[in-house]
Amino acid sequence: MTDKKANLSIDGHDPIELPIYTGTIGPDVVDVGKLTGQGLFTYDPGFVSTAACESKITYIDGDKGILLHRGYPIGQLAEHSDYLETCYLLMHGELPTQEQKDEFVDTIRHHTMVHDQLFTFFNGFRRDAHPMAIMCGVVGALSAFYHDSLDISDEKHREVAAIRLIAKMPTLAAMSYKYSIGQPFMFPDNSLDYSANFLHMMFNTPCERKEISPTLSRAMDRIFTLHADHEQNASTSTVRLAGSTGANPFACIASGIAALWGPSHGGANEAVLEMLNEIGDEKHIDTFIARAKDKDDSFRLMGFGHRVYKNFDPRAKVMKEAADEVLAELGLENDPLLKIAKRLEQIALEDEYFIERKLYPNVDFYSGIILKALGIPTNMFTVIFATGRTVGWLAHWHEMISGPYRIGRPRQLYTGSVERDFLPIDKR
Ligand code: SDX
Repeated sequence: MTDKKANLSIDGHDPIELPIYTGTIGPDVVDVGKLTGQGLFTYDPGFVSTAACESKITYIDGDKGILLHRGYPIGQLAEHSDYLETCYLLMHGELPTQEQKDEFVDTIRHHTMVHDQLFTFFNGFRRDAHPMAIMCGVVGALSAFYHDSLDISDEKHREVAAIRLIAKMPTLAAMSYKYSIGQPFMFPDNSLDYSANFLHMMFNTPCERKEISPTLSRAMDRIFTLHADHEQNASTSTVRLAGSTGANPFACIASGIAALWGPSHGGANEAVLEMLNEIGDEKHIDTFIARAKDKDDSFRLMGFGHRVYKNFDPRAKVMKEAADEVLAELGLENDPLLKIAKRLEQIALEDEYFIERKLYPNVDFYSGIILKALGIPTNMFTVIFATGRTVGWLAHWHEMISGPYRIGRPRQLYTGSVERDFLPIDKR
């Protein structure tokens, strides 16, 4: 904090002096808490210029295309680290020693199974239910199974709940896929690492067990790492708001999954693939670019634009490199969708409309192409995003709950009717 001040002069009000706080890096913030006492609110729909909290977890510089997790650049973590090590970093604030990492990985490995009665829970869903609908339901329902980790005031309960959720999300994600295709669930295999285990549960069957390619599991692991956290995005803010009421961690993560599902947020990776399929051929790209620019057309170029990044999303860069590697490894470098995506990106980035609005490819633009190459069905893309982002949601929830916090309760600018008396129906 600093002794900087903002002086606000408003007609009809005494001058208001507002404290200004300075973070480690990034913009200063003006503490507007005093305004309520002056009968005033701030007004910022979409929270474009509102800092909802103080945090030490992730820092984003949208103009420079910087993303740091506890100070470490995402490109370095994606190249040198792995998902579970990144989970440890996000949750504990420091990279683990070898001993700490071994213990964390072993703990996660021994929490990957889910309660047996959850298997019957799935039977309540139609087979054609969207896997995200299943995940919203099943993750929230975990609070009905794990009563020994619901006391959010107990540090040990918080830690056990976080371990359970990080460990069980891949199992539940694979179960939601298996259920949708009518195949039996696969149990986790503790001899496999986190991401190889996920691919095992997704694609192996009791009748046939294929070895999981190290290249594909490395690509899967990098996708989880690239989705791990992203500051106060819509779903993380939802988790913080739910957590501020004292709701249990499983309910809070279920609220994050629900918020992530929207096509403007985590649902964009599924929407990108649908868009590329709809474009179908490079010769149709100009039509879609025109539609994206047309104010009367609700179509947007999915995978482009970001509230914060006004430069390249650093995750998109890593994702693009990974896409080239995975497709080359699989002999799919001539994948028609990848060719359309690259051509679309090139045209969009030369178009004044996108340049003027600083609309660059975001994390979702290339992720779908890799996921498709890994054999993941399109309706599972946002489930993968939710699986990777669970640790980010938990890190923010834990950071808030571990310190002093208040229930989140925004106000409004009311423009409805003034008070009026009830009218009997025969007088209306
Ligand atoms: C994620 O917040 C996070 O950190 C999210 C995320 C994370 O890791 O948690 O990074 C993950 O959600 C990435 C974003 C995925 N969504 C998409 O790819 C969907 C397509 N993108 C857009 O819907 C949009 O860009 C948003 C939602 C991402 C950002 O919306 P904003 O910041 O509210 O911007 P806006 O809607 O006010 O748009 C500003 C202008 C508008 O034009 P004008 O009214 O100024 O003329 O840019 C235009 C918009 O019409 N615009 C687009 C566009 N995105 C913005 N035009 C065409 N295509 C697009 N994709």
